[in-house]
Amino acid sequence: MSDGPILELRSITKRFPGVVANDAIDFELLPGEVHALLGENGAGKSTLMNIVYGLYRPDGGEILIRGKPVTLGSAREAIMHGIGMVHQQFMLIPVMTVAENIVLASEPTHAGVLLDYAASVERVRELSERFGLAVDPEARVENIGVGQEQRVEILKALYRGAEILILDEPTAVLTPQEAAELFEIIRGLQAQGKSIIFISHKLKEVVEIADRITVLRRGRKVDTISREGATETGLARMMVGREVLLRVEKKPAAPGQPMLEVHDLSVLDDRGLGAVRDVSFAVRAGEIVGLAGVDGNGQTELIDALAGLRRPSGGEIRVRGQDVTRASARRVLDLGVGHIPEDRQRRGLVLEFSLAENLALHDYDEEPNSRFGWLFPRRLISRARKLLREFDVRGGGPQTRASALSGGNQQKVVIAREVAGDPDVLIAAQPTRGLDVGAIEYVHRRLVEVRDEGKAVLLVSLELDEIRALSDRILVIYEGRIVGEYDPKVAEEDLGIAMTGGGSAAAA
Ligand SMILES: Nc1ncnc2c1ncn2[C@@H]1O[C@H](COP(=O)(O)OP(=O)(O)O)[C@@H](O)[C@H]1O
Ligand SMILES: [Mg+2]
Repeated sequence: MSDGPILELRSITKRFPGVVANDAIDFELLPGEVHALLGENGAGKSTLMNIVYGLYRPDGGEILIRGKPVTLGSAREAIMHGIGMVHQQFMLIPVMTVAENIVLASEPTHAGVLLDYAASVERVRELSERFGLAVDPEARVENIGVGQEQRVEILKALYRGAEILILDEPTAVLTPQEAAELFEIIRGLQAQGKSIIFISHKLKEVVEIADRITVLRRGRKVDTISREGATETGLARMMVGREVLLRVEKKPAAPGQPMLEVHDLSVLDDRGLGAVRDVSFAVRAGEIVGLAGVDGNGQTELIDALAGLRRPSGGEIRVRGQDVTRASARRVLDLGVGHIPEDRQRRGLVLEFSLAENLALHDYDEEPNSRFGWLFPRRLISRARKLLREFDVRGGGPQTRASALSGGNQQKVVIAREVAGDPDVLIAAQPTRGLDVGAIEYVHRRLVEVRDEGKAVLLVSLELDEIRALSDRILVIYEGRIVGEYDPKVAEEDLGIAMTGGGSAAAA
């Protein structure tokens, strides 16, 4: 075998109406390497890899596989050349089994019936063992978790003979534990000679997993560097094009009165099972309390109860001493609780409304925005203009529909509205999910400012780094219970252990 690249892109260009998604990009993948493609949202990473996977035709440039020029006119052709891709959205059929999903896409069938199902199951089992991708071939996809679905997608690519595996933001849907498992899988694939392109916008994981890193910014390639020479700060600068503060600067907290108090709170989930169990804690004025936990341990139900969106089954919630346990969402809001929801597109914004309307969602019916039931749009618009400027929202003005903004800018709109409402208590749930480093830096700074203005902030996040960087105290939730309280300087391992039920509450 030659030592040359297994895949080489020369001057690949791809234009979409109004944007050059890829501008003369060169890229080389060496056999057996993990090569990260790093860049902010919209930098052109997925476009470049969709070209390699035959889904888009480039407007210019050349693709070489093992030194030979190829045309990749379809995914089928890419697969024939040994290229496999796992997209951000999985493409599995829920009612079918794992093995059916893997095999059906590749093998001849008779009226949709597999020729030799038993043999296929065996083959899938073999592959899954060889590459350490634990899945049950006979499980139905609708009954497995997201982490497993991803493994099925990887298996599907391997089954079809992939030598080059492209993973598009694979960790975006995973918990920290699942991400760690995925990294083990990637190392295993690498050990067996596979070449991997790992797309991400997360600095930390890129530095952890990649041998080399290529950074894209606004459709252009900035550079390719090896892991040895890479630092998170340096990579952030390359990605964003300016210095980015990765550490959150904050003074020690000066906590005051308890603003939010929760006593023995219990909340049921949608199936009527206990999701939050006898939880008690308080958040005081001037502090950020972080709630750490693996997804699905009661965080969502707790936040919903605090925001008045779900009736607790027991216990008590107080805001500035007032009982709001059974209060409506409207009343909770009126009592001074701001809520940055987990799902900004479903709960944070009305996507088909303008930014001005979204910014006024909570108070459109109050003076001075409205009098005797008449809205004063000019007032809404001028206030929106001011907020959009203050919160650095880019990509639109007061009359722009919320749906037209990027995720990071949509999040800034939600934060602008919630912070501008001047709440005493701010519940921030996954406030930076899916955002770029630049936008994350901004959101973090604003949350610390809110704290320093003397508000009580409850931060709920799956990102341990975020929890540790922002919180003045950390609570860990596991199976609906608070299982420990930690100082933010606690070792990540200790938090991780507590989050998976292995800790003791002694740390409190
Ligand atoms: N199918 C498409 N049609 C039009 N524009 C697109 C399409 N796909 C991507 N773009 C645009 O191309 C640019 C790069 O997008 P993308 O490759 O998805 O970035 P990334 O994966 O780095 O987040 C963005 O400006 C995006 O809006
Ligand atoms: Mg992408």
